Amino acid sequence: MLNEREIESCYLGQFIPVHYHHNMLMDNNRMHSFKSAIAHAVKPGMKVLELGGGTGVLSWFAAANAAKVYCVEFNPDMVQEARKFMAINENGDRVEVIHADAFEYLPPEPVDIVICEMIHVAMLREKQVEVIESFKRRYRQKFGDKLPVFMPEAVLMAAQPLQQEYDFEGFYAPIVQFQETAVVHNNSAELAQPAVYAVIDFTQPNGMSYAWQGKFVVERDGTVNAMRFITKNILSVVEERATTIDWLNHYMVLPLARPVRARAGDVLEVSFAYRAGGSIPSLEATLEAAVVFEAGQDAVAAPSDAVPAYA
Ligand SMILES: C[S@@+](CC[C@H](N)C(=O)[O-])C[C@H]1O[C@@H](n2cnc3c(N)ncnc32)[C@H](O)[C@@H]1O
Repeated sequence: MLNEREIESCYLGQFIPVHYHHNMLMDNNRMHSFKSAIAHAVKPGMKVLELGGGTGVLSWFAAANAAKVYCVEFNPDMVQEARKFMAINENGDRVEVIHADAFEYLPPEPVDIVICEMIHVAMLREKQVEVIESFKRRYRQKFGDKLPVFMPEAVLMAAQPLQQEYDFEGFYAPIVQFQETAVVHNNSAELAQPAVYAVIDFTQPNGMSYAWQGKFVVERDGTVNAMRFITKNILSVVEERATTIDWLNHYMVLPLARPVRARAGDVLEVSFAYRAGGSIPSLEATLEAAVVFEAGQDAVAAPSDAVPAYA
């Protein structure tokens, strides 16, 4: 019989099936970023905890230097896989794979670094923020005030208005999309620069709600019919080189229920609200955009005017 959290976990896809872990291992951007951040942050002899270990790959990166790695995973299938992989990889014996809920587990001794990659764009679906906040509370009670270093250390979240094409061989379907970063998307016209709407610093207490209302200066004429969500994870701060090792999630593009026409120079106001760990539709349902300042007199439709489709 599943308890309430397990039912919700399954529903929200917390239990990513084994075959999806192959996609994560194949995501070079993610893998390289974590590998270099872990190589930088984990110094010889350190104790490391990973929450949500999956295949155990990040724990194994840490084992190159760490004296001991506690790798916590809740999905019994993945626990089995991770144990199997540790047995066939050098230094795998430094990783203890533990079948436990990250909301409840605490290591038997203080650790230097906590790695957690329960990260979805915009901090939706997966429980990163809630898991880390719960961990900090319980860890302090057991070990005192000094917290380990978290990886990622911080997360920046931004939004950007788009004119997005939703034509699929003549079939019009405004639907959530994920986009590669660092490539040109011919189907997306960026109508304004991105704006940061939230910064999560895991060393500080973090709330679970993101309610935002912000303004953009429109840079080119178009129909704002979608918002792109950008999530940049600051995996590790490299103080000696005054830089950071980052991982940029795939972009997520959500359609607007009520698109608006805008012209270069207009000011567009956008609002949305959602909870960390919430569903994609819960954010999509709150997305609103309106032109609140018109640059030209004969320019745009009234803010409330809805235009149906990509032009
Ligand atoms: C995005 S995957 C990352 C896996 C692995 N760290 C990697 O980087 O390839 C998140 C993992 O967290 C696990 N997970 C989700 N909720 C959990 C919980 N409450 N306790 C422990 N593990 C959990 C999932 O089963 C999944 O394996």
